[in-house]
Amino acid sequence: MGFLRSQLIETRKLPYPSASYAGQTIVITGSNTGLGKEAARHYARLGASRLILAVRNLEKGHAARKDIQTTAAKGTAIDVWELDMAKYSSVQAFAARLDAELNRVDIFHANAGVVCPKYSVTEGNETSVTINYVSTFLLAALVLPKLKATAAQFIPHMSAASTAIKNGGLGASDGAILAAVNDPHFAGGAHWKEQYPVSKLLGVFAVRSIAKERPADAYPVTVNMVSPGLCHSELSREAEGCRRWRRGGAHDGGGSRTLVDAGVQGAKSHGQYLADCRIAQPSAVVLDNPDVQDRLWVELKAKLEAIQPGVTDNF
Ligand SMILES: NC(=O)c1ccc[n+]([C@@H]2O[C@H](COP(=O)([O-])OP(=O)(O)OC[C@H]3O[C@@H](n4cnc5c(N)ncnc54)[C@H](OP(=O)(O)O)[C@@H]3O)[C@@H](O)[C@H]2O)c1
Repeated sequence: MGFLRSQLIETRKLPYPSASYAGQTIVITGSNTGLGKEAARHYARLGASRLILAVRNLEKGHAARKDIQTTAAKGTAIDVWELDMAKYSSVQAFAARLDAELNRVDIFHANAGVVCPKYSVTEGNETSVTINYVSTFLLAALVLPKLKATAAQFIPHMSAASTAIKNGGLGASDGAILAAVNDPHFAGGAHWKEQYPVSKLLGVFAVRSIAKERPADAYPVTVNMVSPGLCHSELSREAEGCRRWRRGGAHDGGGSRTLVDAGVQGAKSHGQYLADCRIAQPSAVVLDNPDVQDRLWVELKAKLEAIQPGVTDNF
């Protein structure tokens, strides 16, 4: 019922973004299409000084830039930077560029994400785990020093599915959760069809862990997470069900409004899950398993340290 209410009723109430972003620098990953592109269009319309479209395909990125420019405020500079979340070296190179070339970042949307219809391995993990989870928090750790300097907001785009825990491997023993999630044969392979929600759920735990370790009153960056609801986009090509309940993504039927709203929620939203433009409760899977959250945080930090020693000190 909550899902239907959100999709059918709350969708109509989502506020149309109207604040000024003059003077602000905003970075959005995966912004050549879908929700990221439409969020970028809002920021450009509202006069952001500088927008960075972080994309894996520069040609698509430049096409998006051209399109967004048709509705952008005068004076908004839009740049297209390369970032492939499937390669840790690309994440590191992107973060190094951000550090060298931007003197401030006000809002960072970690929006890039995938649904993988077939099992594959990238950087040692199942591909959606690498892109949606490990690379997203590697990116967070690498850009946090710059964000701290400008008291910015970092916003991964997540959703907390409630069904994922048993078959998804989250019940595995200490130090073995990510191995189970990555194993196509775990639980007889039954978890595989839930891999996308599992990969997103891992991120919900991670955001909560960051806030647990670094509470808002002693931390200059707001790290929250947003679920845009079920939206039309290229992501949903693999899931044809529920089509008529989806929010618009590509034509601002609401999904992109939730992204922009997440960027103005401020310190009260640190570590929080946002849905329908307000702080919401993540699913019972998250709330009932603080031990899984803590154990996953240890595993994720070990993975990030193996990629770049010392990087988790940035949290
Ligand atoms: N749509 C929904 O109902 C929904 C619900 C909850 C959460 N979300 C989340 O919201 C975010 C945006 O989704 P969307 O619906 O707008 O999807 P989308 O239209 O498929 O856009 C996804 C974006 O991520 C990019 N991307 C994928 N893999 C990448 C990689 N390895 N490196 C860099 N960029 C990569 C894509 O680039 P290419 O164009 O090159 O593939 C695209 O720009 C995702 O994180 C998604 O999980 C969406």
